[in-house]
Amino acid sequence: MADTPSEPRSPAPRTADDSPSPGPVPSEPAPELGELTFSDWHAHAEKLVGIGFLTIARRLPALVAHAARLAWLASPRDTVTTIVLSVFGGVFTAFGLLATTGVLSALFEAGPTPERVRAALPALILVGVAATLRTLVQAGAGWAQSRLDPQVSRIAEERLYGLTGRVELAAFDDPEFHDALQRARSRGVSMADTVVSTAVDLLTAAIGIAAAAGVLGVLHPVLLPLLALAVLPDAWAAVRSARMRYTTMYALIPAHRRKWIIGELLANREPAAEVRSFTMRGFLMRMYDAVSRAEQSIMLSLARRQTVARLVGEALGGVGTAVVYVALGLLLAAGAVPLAVAGAAVLAIRSGKSSLENLMYATNRLYEEGLYFTDFLDFCADAETRMSAGRTAPAPSSFERIAVDDVTFTYPGSDTPALRGVSIHIDRGEVVALVGENGSGKTTLAKILSGLYAPDGGHVRWDGTDLAGVDPDRLREHIAVIAQDHTRWPLTARHNIDMGTDKGEAALVAAAEVAGADQVVAGLPYGYNTLLDRRFKDGQELSGGQWQRIAVARGFHRDALLLICDEPTAALDARAEHALFERIRRHADGRTVLLITHRLASVRYADRIYVLDRGKVTEHGTHARLMDLGGLYAELYGLQARAYSA
Ligand SMILES: Nc1ncnc2c1ncn2[C@@H]1O[C@H](COP(=O)(O)OP(=O)(O)OP(=O)(O)O)[C@@H](O)[C@H]1O
Ligand SMILES: [Mg+2]
Repeated sequence: MADTPSEPRSPAPRTADDSPSPGPVPSEPAPELGELTFSDWHAHAEKLVGIGFLTIARRLPALVAHAARLAWLASPRDTVTTIVLSVFGGVFTAFGLLATTGVLSALFEAGPTPERVRAALPALILVGVAATLRTLVQAGAGWAQSRLDPQVSRIAEERLYGLTGRVELAAFDDPEFHDALQRARSRGVSMADTVVSTAVDLLTAAIGIAAAAGVLGVLHPVLLPLLALAVLPDAWAAVRSARMRYTTMYALIPAHRRKWIIGELLANREPAAEVRSFTMRGFLMRMYDAVSRAEQSIMLSLARRQTVARLVGEALGGVGTAVVYVALGLLLAAGAVPLAVAGAAVLAIRSGKSSLENLMYATNRLYEEGLYFTDFLDFCADAETRMSAGRTAPAPSSFERIAVDDVTFTYPGSDTPALRGVSIHIDRGEVVALVGENGSGKTTLAKILSGLYAPDGGHVRWDGTDLAGVDPDRLREHIAVIAQDHTRWPLTARHNIDMGTDKGEAALVAAAEVAGADQVVAGLPYGYNTLLDRRFKDGQELSGGQWQRIAVARGFHRDALLLICDEPTAALDARAEHALFERIRRHADGRTVLLITHRLASVRYADRIYVLDRGKVTEHGTHARLMDLGGLYAELYGLQARAYSA
């Protein structure tokens, strides 16, 4: 049961060079590790240690119900088969035990041995038949149970990733969401099939006990409580040790995440070059080592406490078993039970005890797995609340004017607003530019316009329709975004541009031409079907500017009402940049364009320019008007113009 701690386990860090000292042995002090202060871990763990045995008992029915629901969703047929065959397994067990009493009674009768054996024969045949049938139905139940596993896994995984793909973008700015996601992803989701399987084990064991207890009850009622006495101490120890384990694991989540992130930096392709050029290895390894050591000492203390709990449980369990057999001996001596019944009782007690042990084991596992599985359920419930609930109105199919009215926005967890009372408008067919210094809020405004974030205050309207009530997924279908931090999709060049839509070859090529991506593709060994990911065989890598051309092509391919270009040319060469701005200047083939750029020469031709400064629109108008104004725009424009004319 002592499982490995939560995945994803980062691979053992490797040294980045061939130096003989392989070492993560830090001689310098460990770097600051913000969230990993010990007092915080323990404070969190303390709260959870409060979970008592009764709480566990109370939670079990709900867990079993969840498991049953999941199993039913996965396959009603296999669920029913598992349950029905398990019940029959128990019935045949009980039947076999009772038949054993018949065998023993016949054998213990007075008379010559051959006769006694003959008398015992019918009961003996019954025992054999019961044993065979039990084996058969148990095999059938096992088969149905193992068929459930992969089906349940699939359902749980699809649910998890269905939700992570649908939650509002803001969730990804929330560390609590990441923690919960990590818990759900690393262990929670993989527990779904295990929980179902353990719930079935629990059921099987319970049926086995019912069978043994029924037989014991028939033989002599006083044997029943004695049986419980022998097993309860073990159960206590097992549950206690599971609880310690879970609370420790829970508290270690931030450490695992930090380790995972550092491991990724050391093992992944993207940062590999910078890890070397900035000689980051020592720094990263020290950080890794600090987290690992803290984790190690906590795990060692856990192992010690678990061993103590197990020892105490087993010692008490031994005493309990002794009491059971002494009591049985006393009953025999007092003549309260005949010898044949005592013999059958010993068998029933052994069978019951093994079922009870299975039950305790399953209960304990179900509790432990249930804690992780609950993480998955909690994550799903939390993710449901992070959906754009209530936003169900259909998106307008076109607009004459998009108006942003007094919009305020603060990123979750941030103190300073990124946008304060911003008002702008974009008319159909216009090219509107957004300029301003780094961090002034341009990308944030673009994300609000594209429906990725909902404003805290103010309104965004498409004509009369306030977007606050509009289904954001439908809205986004009308908007194309060339993002500043575009994704380098590990897909083919084709899918990097068409994003899984199929509008035909002509549309693909036309979009690629706008951005000069056609030249990029022409240089690829398999053209549009080249995989753009070096981690796979035949995968290709592109240069920064080539990637940007692909990203621009993607934006144009979407053919949306509104095209948002956020720094579309930062990495483009002069020729590609000129071609793209020419296209945008000619209103991007009839689209409405919001252009964000630091290349001020290219915004001269915009219908209107908004200047953002620390989250506020400070100036707006045409290029000529803003130059006359002599404000921030004129200053920035002057700086760039002078740099070129010098
Ligand atoms: N996801 C985020 N969470 C918290 N704060 C953020 C987030 N993204 C941006 N910010 C903050 O919001 C402010 C505005 O950022 P934004 O990206 O909109 O600037 P920008 O004008 O696009 O800058 P640049 O010219 O560098 O692209 C910055 O202070 C930034 O630190
Ligand atoms: Mg930006």
